[in-house]
Amino acid sequence: MKPVARSQLVPSQTVRIEEVRALIEKYRNAYYQQDQSLISDGEYDLLEQELKELEALEPLSAGDALTTKVGSGSGSVFDPVVHGQKMMSLDNVFDSQGFQAWAERVGAGPYLCEPKIDGLAVSLTYKEGVLIRAATRGDGEVGEDITQNAMTIQGVPHRLLGQNHPELVEVRGEVFFELEDFAKLNARIVSQGGKPFANPRNSASGSLRQKDPAVSATRPLKMLVHGFGVWSADVSSQSAVYEKLAHWGLPTTKRYRVLETPNLVLAYISELEAARPTIEHEIDGVVIKVDDLATQASLGSTSRAPRWAIAYKYPPEQVYTKLLDIKVSIGRTGRATPFAVLAPVVVAGSQVEFATLHNQEQVKSKGVLIGDTVVLRKAGDVIPEILGPVVSLRDGTECPFVMPSNCPECQARLEPASQGDIDLRCSNAKSCPAQLRERIAYIGSRAALDIEALGYVSASALTNPVEPAVAPILSEADLFSLTMEKLLPIRAKVIDADTGLARKDAEGHDKVVDYFRKKNGEPSEVAVKLLANLEAAKTKPLWRLLVSLSIRHVGPVAARALADNFGSFRAIFEASQEQLAEVDGVGPTLAESITGWYLEDWHRQILASWEDAGVQLSNPMHREQGVSKSDGLFAGLSIVVTGSMETMTREAIEALIIENGGKAASSVSKNTAFLVAGPGAGSKLNKAESLDVLVITEAQFLDKLPA
Ligand code: IVH
Repeated sequence: MKPVARSQLVPSQTVRIEEVRALIEKYRNAYYQQDQSLISDGEYDLLEQELKELEALEPLSAGDALTTKVGSGSGSVFDPVVHGQKMMSLDNVFDSQGFQAWAERVGAGPYLCEPKIDGLAVSLTYKEGVLIRAATRGDGEVGEDITQNAMTIQGVPHRLLGQNHPELVEVRGEVFFELEDFAKLNARIVSQGGKPFANPRNSASGSLRQKDPAVSATRPLKMLVHGFGVWSADVSSQSAVYEKLAHWGLPTTKRYRVLETPNLVLAYISELEAARPTIEHEIDGVVIKVDDLATQASLGSTSRAPRWAIAYKYPPEQVYTKLLDIKVSIGRTGRATPFAVLAPVVVAGSQVEFATLHNQEQVKSKGVLIGDTVVLRKAGDVIPEILGPVVSLRDGTECPFVMPSNCPECQARLEPASQGDIDLRCSNAKSCPAQLRERIAYIGSRAALDIEALGYVSASALTNPVEPAVAPILSEADLFSLTMEKLLPIRAKVIDADTGLARKDAEGHDKVVDYFRKKNGEPSEVAVKLLANLEAAKTKPLWRLLVSLSIRHVGPVAARALADNFGSFRAIFEASQEQLAEVDGVGPTLAESITGWYLEDWHRQILASWEDAGVQLSNPMHREQGVSKSDGLFAGLSIVVTGSMETMTREAIEALIIENGGKAASSVSKNTAFLVAGPGAGSKLNKAESLDVLVITEAQFLDKLPA
């Protein structure tokens, strides 16, 4: 007899429970039968939780309650398959208390922990070691026959390894796409005029449920097994099952652990969460199972889920949001990068409003349209990314993005730097406000001169102020001749570093601030600091000054090599391409980029102005090593030591050079003052001779030193 229970729902809850039921029904049907997620997993979980709470107030017979059901009825394209053992779902917990409560219910460990893969559940039936059937979960009792499609999954054996297999086993696991394969698949689908998938899970489900198994075969699906249904092999723990499955050649996860205590499980949960962004496929939590099979059996199951297992769900990395617009930002080398303007959402703990789309090819290959609902993914600290559009939510008002042909800030043409480049660049390198702002901000960055007060907002205020009419910085040439008189009158918009867009005030107008002046008209802290920082930057190591020029391909590594070898800007820019390319870590592309840069008049003007302003464009004193002796015997001289020395080591000679203000260089060039050569000297000696560089012995060198 059914217990007669009275509903404790108030009228508004009676309306809501029906609403929530209808929604869940709709989302489940879309999810299980059309491979579509109309809402994000996080939102779905919240609805289920809400329903569970409401259903608790309205006790129905257990079988009727939606939250006790597994999955959804099967679609119609495939033949029905009755599972030998019901395919269950899992109950969820969302925090350590929830997990501890479960652990108390099930009793002591060991517990088996493994990633919860965000894919779709599949059951494989092997008869005497031969794969005879594969089925989706369906409603848990009856699934869809996808045998032919499953045969195409990489790593799923058609015949088990070894001998004497049980008469019949059902192996359960998760089918999924790796993130990289998902992106490639979407690109291919879009290029063939098809509709992209919103996320990897949907694409796995869609790919496996293709009517034509030949299509499934072109999709690089993967599978990991995590359980069993009908089973007659002789083992006593879940982990022993995994060992057996692995022996039979089935794909099992390497990431599972058998742990003794709840605390160790919690540590595993945190470790895996930290590793989550680096895992090649998506995971949405950890599944914890009682390892001992006899204990599993005695705990049993509810109608929906086993009591001996629990899913610890991580916060969602994926959310749904609207793609409001696609704009283009211009980088310091002029590259035009499309980026998504999104309806702001919180994901992985931070609010996201923008996401880069890299280039116009990516916009195309992702298949997103302006106005789409899109799936946004943010994994840990990794930058947010749009996975794909939710095509089923389109209403026809969406429109494709067209890459502009002109720079959004200076209207110059956007064109590829060389034929065949995907990236387009603004051709107005010298005075495009965006490029100049980016280059100036880069000069202040850690990678270059590391000037604290020269951040993005300062850079933008200096290069493109609202007042005065003429900016104090029209090119890098003006940077080191800034004065307080030039700074004080500046009023400027506050520009966002990620997008190049102006921040808005409460009324929606562009925010304009006095950046270098306090209310009482006195210099602001930033102004004072900026001038002091710039003064100090004049004697920064040569390689940092070189990096700060934003010459394409010249990063800190190449810049250090160049500075060490040539010792001064003059030597670097007067060197031939061949000489530059010879330097370790430089090479021909970089060499060409450097000589090309120097050919521009306005670039040479930067060097001239910096020199006039007192910037030290040579490295005579090995400032890098903290030695600063402008009056030493070898000040300004680049000296090379080679071969073996007689009375001391080569390193000791080099130390003497540095101590006396010189530079101990590693290779000979025409800027080398002299070469100290000992027995065994080889190519450096030859080079010195060919360049007419003075060569002396160790004794002659020591003679030069002050007594
Ligand atoms: S065990 C009887 N282990 O998550 C217990 N399931 O939300 C069956 N899933 O239906 C599940 N990774 O499709 C288990 N390592 C894992 C899993 C996993 C993903 C799926 C599975 C299940 C769903 C429940």
